[in-house]
Amino acid sequence: MAAIEQTQYLENEAFAQGMFALKAAAQKLSEPRFFIRTFGCQQNVSDSERIAGILIECGYKRCEEPAQADLILFNTCAVREHAEDRVFGNVGELKKYKRENPSLIIAVGGCMVQQQHIAEKLQKSYPYVDLIFNTNRLDLLPGEIAQCAETRGALIAPKSDRYSIVEDLPIRRDEGFRAHIPIMFGCDNFCTYCIVPYVRGRERSRSSADVVEEFKNAVAQGYKDIMLLGQNVNSYGKGLAEQINFAALLERLNDVEGDFTIRFMTSHPKDATKELFDTIARCKKISRQIHLPVQSGSNRILREMNRGYTREEYLALIDYARSVIDGVSFTSDIIVGFPGETEQDYNDTVDLVRHVGFRSLFTFIYSKREGTRAAVMPDFTDHKTKAQRLNALVAIQDEITERQESEYVGKTFRMLVVSKLADGKFEARMDDNSAITVEGDCQLNAFHNVTVTERTKKRLYGKVV
Ligand code: 5AD
Ligand code: SF4
Repeated sequence: MAAIEQTQYLENEAFAQGMFALKAAAQKLSEPRFFIRTFGCQQNVSDSERIAGILIECGYKRCEEPAQADLILFNTCAVREHAEDRVFGNVGELKKYKRENPSLIIAVGGCMVQQQHIAEKLQKSYPYVDLIFNTNRLDLLPGEIAQCAETRGALIAPKSDRYSIVEDLPIRRDEGFRAHIPIMFGCDNFCTYCIVPYVRGRERSRSSADVVEEFKNAVAQGYKDIMLLGQNVNSYGKGLAEQINFAALLERLNDVEGDFTIRFMTSHPKDATKELFDTIARCKKISRQIHLPVQSGSNRILREMNRGYTREEYLALIDYARSVIDGVSFTSDIIVGFPGETEQDYNDTVDLVRHVGFRSLFTFIYSKREGTRAAVMPDFTDHKTKAQRLNALVAIQDEITERQESEYVGKTFRMLVVSKLADGKFEARMDDNSAITVEGDCQLNAFHNVTVTERTKKRLYGKVV
């Protein structure tokens, strides 16, 4: 582990003891198996990879069916109500497995249960859940599971130490072609609709030495698509003793020997600097596709959301990036139906979407999150109107995407071949992250030049050059 910075690194004694206890507990089972289900964002995927790493090191094997497992874990998401409803539904279904196998351990963790009212609801209404764990403190997880194995039925409430960084946890990356590397945790922005700052805590960055080390390991393991993660990657470095910002970190990673693409998410427009775009322009291993969530095109709504930029400032950023980065494209997140959003506000969003010409959009209907500032703002728009706005926006974006992708036909791009399909063809990922079906002579997990031959409503097709 790198030198201790201002960010507090945790003593790993609790972790070492927990691992010891969990290995002993696993040895008592004939074939210890775990099943893990991940809800939500890439950060959760990354946390689950660390959970899997811990369990595999303790002697557990991963299984694909909850019915076969001695330990079932759910890693949950709180960003929208719909995600929480799904988790409650899924936890409800676990009751039957517990009935069939009383020694089964059921553990639920992640953003959703890091809200006190949800933890209480789980405790009260789902008493067969053995453990509520905190993904901000995965070093405590092995000890907590071991304790559950010993004292059946004990339910441990989440501990809310949110200012720490836990390094050196084992990791078992999912089988996919992409390596996820968290570079910072938490968020200090308090956008008024968002629960993340409450469940993930304050911003803290990993030291650059730890990031570079994990990055080099991923390259050495053969990963050619590496995604840097953080709720707000642009504020990377704040609070560290070393003088470093996100642009400087990118530069350092771009210098790592090897052939790979660097991606990152999520970038906050308020902290996206000219320096960042100049760096991307210079660093050829960084993807030319940038995720820059705008959320709304209305200045009034942006202010109500506490986003910290105006529509004009956002558009100026896009213009600047386009002036310095060849072939740059943007994706974005949009919330429709934020409390008080008028038809005019919505039209401003549509206008911005048309003006920018995003490569793709993630669109959401505003979901009220208990404890956030927006939850108490008056909201007069009915759900049906919000759904209509969302659908209309999706249709507009589909047209934009279709136009952009039609222009790809006949052109040749360098892309990573990521998997073999049943019909002998391959799936590849373009630099802008679009999936494409490819035929011809190619190797898995290698970059190839591919000419795009066709675009149907659903998919792009190409031939290896
Ligand atoms: N309702 C709807 N969408 C939300 N997001 C975050 N919080 C909410 C909410 N309360 C969206 C934002 C964010 C993305 C990850 O999820 O668009 O960028
Ligand atoms: Fe939520 Fe805003 Fe932080 Fe993103 S920047 S995690 S939307 S509070």
